[in-house]
Amino acid sequence: MRAINDETVTDVALEQMAGTSDPRLKEIMAAAVRHLHAFAREVNLTPQEWLEGIRFFTAVGQQCTSYRQEFVLLSDVLGLSALVGLMNDKNGTGFHSDTSLLGPFYRENSPQFELGQSIATKARGKEIALYGCVLDSNGCGIPEASIQIWQTDEEGDYDMQKPEASEMDLRGTFHTDSEGRYYLRSVLPAGYSIPMDGPVGDLIRAQKRHGLRPSHIHYLLGAPGYRELVTALYIHGDPHIGSDTVFGVTDSLVVKVTDQDSDSPFPYLPGIRYDFTLASADKGQVSGRVGADPAQITRVAQGGGSTR
Ligand code: BEZ
Ligand code: FE
Repeated sequence: MRAINDETVTDVALEQMAGTSDPRLKEIMAAAVRHLHAFAREVNLTPQEWLEGIRFFTAVGQQCTSYRQEFVLLSDVLGLSALVGLMNDKNGTGFHSDTSLLGPFYRENSPQFELGQSIATKARGKEIALYGCVLDSNGCGIPEASIQIWQTDEEGDYDMQKPEASEMDLRGTFHTDSEGRYYLRSVLPAGYSIPMDGPVGDLIRAQKRHGLRPSHIHYLLGAPGYRELVTALYIHGDPHIGSDTVFGVTDSLVVKVTDQDSDSPFPYLPGIRYDFTLASADKGQVSGRVGADPAQITRVAQGGGSTR
């Protein structure tokens, strides 16, 4: 038996895991153990501090509900969601639009809309048009591409943050026309604070950060044969565009709201024109999501069969 001390314990733990049959799980867990042990050594982690860390992670789990995913939020404020998305982006072949965060407010099965309709079924605010094309890397329009879109209202709230959280508003699913065009209407979203009333908010305050996201509109685009694109458009002029608390803003995703555009399907409305480009799914990996609909996670956990 190998003597365990503060220097050998890492290798002993790695040896015990060496029989893991799934090679990717083996690689990921070995790297996680190496880096976690290195982290504990670097900061000379004390038992009290590690207990505090465990208390924090427990609180993050306890904050999760059908409408809230505090672990996704934690990943976001640490920059990990942005890093994973950006690395995934680099694997895409050919030109494609930049990715941005899915965030904790995505919901599956949003209402289906016809092109031209408004996703603001209840919310009021300054009406805007959103339009453009979904293109492949050669610049050709992709017909019938699906576009899921979600955003805050003029007060910076998502539907899930309203008292009647189960009712969807300011989100919907559209499909491009035969030329790959999309056009719809909405209201101008406001920037907002990420949820600050849980353990992630406590961390943000301890770090003297502001916890704000600039005004933006989320998009999740897909089509058979193409990599799913999770992204967002950020409204130029928002004061927090350069200090997003979850690191989602890249230059190519900052857009201006033009007052009038004679090429717009709604020339009388202020609008945002944006063409999205999807990479082909030639490496078999189609999803770029970091995070998931919290309601779906809870449903699986509650009804997904035996946990033994
Ligand atoms: C969002 O844009 O919806 C979001 C992303 C990360 C954390 C909180 C919100
Ligand atoms: Fe958002």
